[in-house]
Amino acid sequence: MITVIGSGRVGTAAAVIMGILKVDTKILLIDVVKGLPQGEALDMNHMSSILGLDVEYVGSNEYKDMEGSDLVIVTAGLPRKPGMTREQLLEANAKIVSEIGREIRKYAPESVVILTTNPLDAMTYVMWKATGFPRERVIGFSGVLDAGRLAYYASKKLGVSPASILPIVLGQHGESMFPVPSKSFVHGVPLSRLLTEDQLREVVEETVKAGARITELRGFSSNWGPGSGLAIMAEAVKRDAKRSLIASVVLEGEYGVRDVPVEVPIVLGRRGVLKVLEVELTEEERQKFMQSVEAVKKLISSLPPAYLS
Ligand code: 2OP
Repeated sequence: MITVIGSGRVGTAAAVIMGILKVDTKILLIDVVKGLPQGEALDMNHMSSILGLDVEYVGSNEYKDMEGSDLVIVTAGLPRKPGMTREQLLEANAKIVSEIGREIRKYAPESVVILTTNPLDAMTYVMWKATGFPRERVIGFSGVLDAGRLAYYASKKLGVSPASILPIVLGQHGESMFPVPSKSFVHGVPLSRLLTEDQLREVVEETVKAGARITELRGFSSNWGPGSGLAIMAEAVKRDAKRSLIASVVLEGEYGVRDVPVEVPIVLGRRGVLKVLEVELTEEERQKFMQSVEAVKKLISSLPPAYLS
């Protein structure tokens, strides 16, 4: 059983797409708002019936119902509003993530946790501490989203399918995010050789600003990109697919960094992170990456001490 905590736009998009991809036969939706997860589950069960999915959705307001889940997806927390950065959500969301982390430790102690709450990397740290799980089982979501966006914007300029691009984005899912065109390839040829300097600058900027752009346009933040990225990750875990993708994990010496979660390429399977892949960086790229790491460190160090142990 997969549990999705938070029945807002991201949680429900993930639940729908996981159902359509038949990632599991039972998906539990938990939210603190009475009636919301139950109503969403009922509507999704109708979808499941119409599409012949054989997936059962259940809605609940009780954390204890997650007992027996091997995968818990946490989408709870405040989303950003137009004009806000992800970083401005730090304190309010740390409290929510920490409380949920303790419930997961109690009711699903062997689960793999994937979370989407912003500011993503700092919240991954809070979840890691609150659950006490090994870093392999606490994964911050947004690298799949950032990489998917990089592939999308590059594909528009190149005239090739985004599926033909293997994109790399490193560092923070935030203002100092670091898309790396020199390490993102179309069949062995890096984007840095396929696009001009100006085109590369535009692609990088569009990728970094993509989340804010969506929020600006429609007044609320993204959900279809996150929902589908979460479904792909859930599939890798449930099918033990050992798929390589980008995610935020606590580094334990890789890239010369310790105890800080940032986006890096990983291999994902049933037990969570099976491997962290170290991309070779030039000196200039390494400096950018480290600036991004420092930004995450700074956010973590501004958290109240209660969330740091
Ligand atoms: C995004 O990048 C909201 O962080 C989310 O769209």
